[in-house]
Amino acid sequence: MREGSSSDFTPALGFRWLTRLYDPVLRATLKEKKFKGLLVQQAGIEPDQRVLDLGCGTGTLTVMLARACPQAEVVGLDADPEVIEIARRKIASAGVRVELFQGMAFAPPFDANSFDRVVSSLVLHHLSRVDKRRTFSKLRELLKPDGELHIADWGQAQNTLMRLAFLSVQLLDGFESTSDNVEGRLIPLLEEAGFESVEETQREMTLFGTLSLYRALNPR
Ligand SMILES: C[S@@+](CC[C@H](N)C(=O)[O-])C[C@H]1O[C@@H](n2cnc3c(N)ncnc32)[C@H](O)[C@@H]1O
Repeated sequence: MREGSSSDFTPALGFRWLTRLYDPVLRATLKEKKFKGLLVQQAGIEPDQRVLDLGCGTGTLTVMLARACPQAEVVGLDADPEVIEIARRKIASAGVRVELFQGMAFAPPFDANSFDRVVSSLVLHHLSRVDKRRTFSKLRELLKPDGELHIADWGQAQNTLMRLAFLSVQLLDGFESTSDNVEGRLIPLLEEAGFESVEETQREMTLFGTLSLYRALNPR
């Protein structure tokens, strides 16, 4: 294994025993439907496109993506079998068509050039810098030319209050993987991987810090 890289992963709320509380905590604290709705809107999915929800967790965003465009093929990937099981139940009760896979973000079990969109919410702050780099380079391979990456994650703190609020996330998920987010290194890391027109499209102050949306294009 390469230094700083991990085949282990941080569970949705930092600790396994908190996973079953993930959905209620997110609903109560983060205006989840609003920011995930903005992300779905930003991704602009069209019929016949193939879309990956990277780090799909309990499947809330995955279901929203499938509902936004039922004629698209939506696929979810997550490292954690426990959240995949929750997502499976949610997808069945929503009656949408989604395929779920277990695997690491930096070793996705898919062919190159096979996705039009990759969408990812609250996952990158779980990855070490080495794993962010490996993941971005894999996503460039997975995306077709002109494919798009749409991200919602913790962004650069826009003021001292937001920086202090983010300490709660850092205590739960660790300082190493989260510091690239809060110190504004996601955009340079995406550019370094070769993505183009990388931009922060929206940002919002939340109880836990600045939540940002990003867009990045895979060049032709
Ligand atoms: C905070 S949750 C976000 C889940 C979902 N995307 C959402 O917005 O609710 C982070 C998710 O990333 C997954 N994860 C963490 N490290 C991962 C990795 N290296 N590869 C794939 N998934 C990973 C966790 O299992 C967890 O489900």
